[in-house]
Amino acid sequence: MIELRNVSQRFAGPHGWVDALHDIDLTIAAGEIFGIIGRSGAGKSTLVRTINLLARPTAGEVVVAGRTLTGLSPGPLREARREIGMIFQHFNLLSSRTVFGNIALPLELAGIKRQAIEAAVMPLIELVGLSAQRDRYPAQISGGQKQRVGIARALASRPKVLLSDEATSALDPETTRSILDLLKQINRELGLTIVLITHQMEVIKQVCDRVAVLDAGRIVEAGGVIDVFLRPRHDVTRALLGDVIAHELPGAVKARVAKHLETGAGQLLRLAFAGGSVDRPVLSEAIRRYALDVNILHGQIDEIQGRAFGSLAVLADGEPQQLDAALAFLREQGVIVEALSHV
Ligand SMILES: Nc1ncnc2c1ncn2[C@@H]1O[C@H](COP(=O)(O)OP(=O)(O)O)[C@@H](O)[C@H]1O
Ligand SMILES: [Mg+2]
Repeated sequence: MIELRNVSQRFAGPHGWVDALHDIDLTIAAGEIFGIIGRSGAGKSTLVRTINLLARPTAGEVVVAGRTLTGLSPGPLREARREIGMIFQHFNLLSSRTVFGNIALPLELAGIKRQAIEAAVMPLIELVGLSAQRDRYPAQISGGQKQRVGIARALASRPKVLLSDEATSALDPETTRSILDLLKQINRELGLTIVLITHQMEVIKQVCDRVAVLDAGRIVEAGGVIDVFLRPRHDVTRALLGDVIAHELPGAVKARVAKHLETGAGQLLRLAFAGGSVDRPVLSEAIRRYALDVNILHGQIDEIQGRAFGSLAVLADGEPQQLDAALAFLREQGVIVEALSHV
């Protein structure tokens, strides 16, 4: 549905050139919810604006729904852009227009007749759950409701793709969840392809199928969300994951473990597991079989995309050979075992 080929974006900054995007290759399938995560300044907004050519790339090709946007002249490009809706962090609603008026705006601009607009907007208002608010002004509704207006407005021209640039970043966690649930529903019911830009791993965890990690204008890591959560390969990914899974030990635990490792034996490990191995007691089986002492320091069991997911930091002690055998056993059972060499 979306393909970026060798896309680069270079801006003239006050201190010379800024390479906001560097040689980006990305393929997003139809019907997918694809997340792009990165820290502030990584190039996320530039990337999403490149997909609808609000920012024309300095090099490379952008293909959306079978059309090479980078090759289109202004007329056909405007046409092609109707297939791409967009929502923003600060909603960008017109304060002088009601909920209905805001959602109707793109249709009015496209010259659609009043009656047809009414027929198109009413089901959208219902879809986003704002039937009771249709005649209210932006100042009279909550942040979550404003974003619902933004979503309905983006859907008004019946796009195939929805781009979301930090659409939940101004919302509290509960409202964020409800907006993400709505996006998921739209993805399911309308078959819309969604590209979700965020700096919060929690957002990726809640709705995305696949994720790409952007750092300094480059994609440093990409894959299925569970795979990336289980085996983050890049430091930036690990740092971003710190918000949702326990990679770092709490300070007090760190101090205790450091002391223990100085004097005593044992290995500090991180165990990560998904699906089957969460449900079976593989850890207790390893402890029994190989006569280990295991002290669980920190961790959690969670759910990603309906699959159980767990991450534990443990201090494991035992006969060296037994310990090695236990780690091999755990790996055989699908547990990802990582030695944490320092605390
Ligand atoms: N129009 C522009 N002109 C000059 N520099 C820009 C422009 N847009 C973005 N940049 C620069 O590109 C980099 C990436 O910005 P942006 O895409 O907004 O990052 P993010 O959305 O990940 O925070 C930043 O260094 C930013 O200053
Ligand atoms: Mg941004």
